[in-house]
Amino acid sequence: MLRKGPAEQDIKEVLYSAEDIRLRVTSLADTIVMDYQDKEQAPILIAVLMGSVHFFSDLMRAIGTRMHVEPDFMVVKSYDGTHSSGTVKILIDLRASVADRDVIVVEDIVDTGSTMKSILDILGNRHPSSIRTCVLLDKPSTRQIEVPIDYVGFEVPNLFVVGYGLDYNEAYRQLPFIGVLKEEIYL
Ligand code: IMP
Repeated sequence: MLRKGPAEQDIKEVLYSAEDIRLRVTSLADTIVMDYQDKEQAPILIAVLMGSVHFFSDLMRAIGTRMHVEPDFMVVKSYDGTHSSGTVKILIDLRASVADRDVIVVEDIVDTGSTMKSILDILGNRHPSSIRTCVLLDKPSTRQIEVPIDYVGFEVPNLFVVGYGLDYNEAYRQLPFIGVLKEEIYL
């Protein structure tokens, strides 16, 4: 979708600045390193794209030299505009087998929980040794399906947020911060 003018003018409020995000991602990486550094095999870190694109890459770099991780990618589609469609489509699947491996699913946001539930069901059927979830944003007030969240960046209220990978109809993913989209953009 083509839009004119700076993307920033569509943002009502910045919730988390680039620096807030950097500090939080570093702390999540520290916790993951503590939890996995003594394991025999490197965990498979699964980016659920597109939304986790920046989060995943920053998390990997924050883990850095401290331990090994094996990155893999899944592209799923679950949202139509600002509403969860309730159905998840896998557009691109993982390259590697997760059987007998420790897996960490890295997602941008858990809203109703249906996307994460579907992903966990799909991966669970492939018999990994363990699955944990690492989520940048948690919107607990809109949850319809309970899903385990093992590592969480920030809890957000029931607002439509964009930036740092999160989109509205494929726009705003490039913003370095997480902000609330002005309502007139989508109403
Ligand atoms: P759920 O299935 O309802 O939990 O929705 C999860 C997916 O919806 C996420 O992976 C996002 O792609 C998208 N999503 C949920 N809330 C927002 C939001 O506030 N902004 C942008 N995308 C969102």
